[in-house]
Order: sequence, then structure tokens, then C-alpha cells
Amino acid sequence: MRKLLFLVLGGIFMLSNPVKAEDKIETEIALPTPDYESGRPLMQTLKERQTYREFGPRIINDQNLAELLWAANGVNRPDGRRTIPTARDSRDLDVYVLKQGGAYRYNPDRHMLELVNPAALRYTAAKQDFVKQADVLLVYVSNNKNREYAAMHAGSAYQDVGLYCASVGMHNVVLGMIDKDMLHKELHLNDDDYVIIAQALGWPKKK
Ligand SMILES: Cc1cc2nc3c(=O)[nH]c(=O)nc-3n(C[C@H](O)[C@H](O)[C@H](O)COP(=O)(O)O)c2cc1C
Repeated sequence: MRKLLFLVLGGIFMLSNPVKAEDKIETEIALPTPDYESGRPLMQTLKERQTYREFGPRIINDQNLAELLWAANGVNRPDGRRTIPTARDSRDLDVYVLKQGGAYRYNPDRHMLELVNPAALRYTAAKQDFVKQADVLLVYVSNNKNREYAAMHAGSAYQDVGLYCASVGMHNVVLGMIDKDMLHKELHLNDDDYVIIAQALGWPKKK
């Protein structure tokens, strides 16, 4: 009887609050192939690389997201090796993407996003106010027993992303000041996994 009551009440709630298309949580997001011809040349990009702590409202589309994730930790050779070097080819780095619509893990082999938590974690993870303007927060995670190596791997990845941002005119800031315990819990990480660092991303404000 109680079950029936819940079902009826649930039905009434669903009818009075229809799920909008843009509210739908996607469990997997297939990412487009990166455009390997895009962006400024390397020397100009290096000249432009810098930290920005100001972001406009423009959303980062799937094409740019695909390219910056591929820059961070994508497969760039047929044998599955990555855009970043890793000690003993350990490939231990995981990149999590906290964006509108939930938190996802980037799967480099499938070049896809896999949902880990539908909650909007991107703004609660950061301890600085300006992060609330950023569209996307990347979180770098590893389970490497050698934490020095893991930090170097994350550094390679955030530098690749920083260079990608400079090459297309996107803003980014690396963030050590984050709530690692909350992220460990909400990203459903294993006991061996640990959060290393994060990076906030967004387009600049229109001038
Ligand atoms: C490992 C690391 C941690 C950082 N953590 C923060 C942070 O928590 N908050 C912040 O606003 N900037 C942070 N930054 C950005 C630095 O403050 C910034 O890189 C530095 O001021 C130099 O500026 P530039 O990147 O424009 O050359 C961090 C940078 C690195 C490399």
C-alpha cells in the first residue's frame, strides 16, 4: 500500500516537474576527434601562456573539451601511449572533468567521458571565489605509489592544457587550494587513489 502511494505521488511529481532536455544527465559522452591543425603555433603559444583568474559566461563546447582533454592525457600513438610521458609508461594519471551536468572521468582509450557523479561539484571543490565563474574544473588523480612521479605527471598534463588554452585564447588557472577530501569522496575514488591538483577553465569575458 505504501509502495503504491509512493508510486502515485512520484507520478504526480514527474508530471508537474517534467525533465527538460538540457537537464538530462548523460552517463557517457562521446567526444569529437581533436582538430590537430587548430590553435596558434608553439612559439606564439609559449609567449601567450599565463594564469588568468577571470572568466566569462561562454560555455566550453565538446570540441574544445575534447581537444584540451586529449592535450592533458590523450592517446597520440597506435600503441596507446599518451600526450604526456609517464615513468615506466605507468599511465597512472586520471583526469576528472567537473562541468555543468556532473562530474566525469576522461577515458583516454575510448576518448569518452564516463559519469561518476551527477552532482554539480565544480564550485564546491574550490576554495577561491573566482573559480565560481569558471565553466569547467579538471581534477588530476593518480594511484601511483611514487607520489613525486604522480605530481610530475599531473604537471605535464596541466602544462599541456595551459598551452592548449594559450593556443586558442581560453583562460585557465592551476589550483592547489582545493578540497581534496571532498573530491575523493564525491568522485568515488578508490582507497589507493589520491587527488593531486586541479585546474579551472573558461573563456575570457567579452571585451
Ligand atoms: C602547483 C601550482 C599550484 C597553484 N595553486 C594555485 C591556487 O591554488 N590558486 C591560484 O589562484 N593560483 C594557483 N597557481 C597559479 C600560480 O599562482 C601562478 O602560476 C603564478 O602566480 C605565476 O603566474 P603565471 O602562471 O601567470 O606565470 C598554482 C600554480 C601551480 C603551478
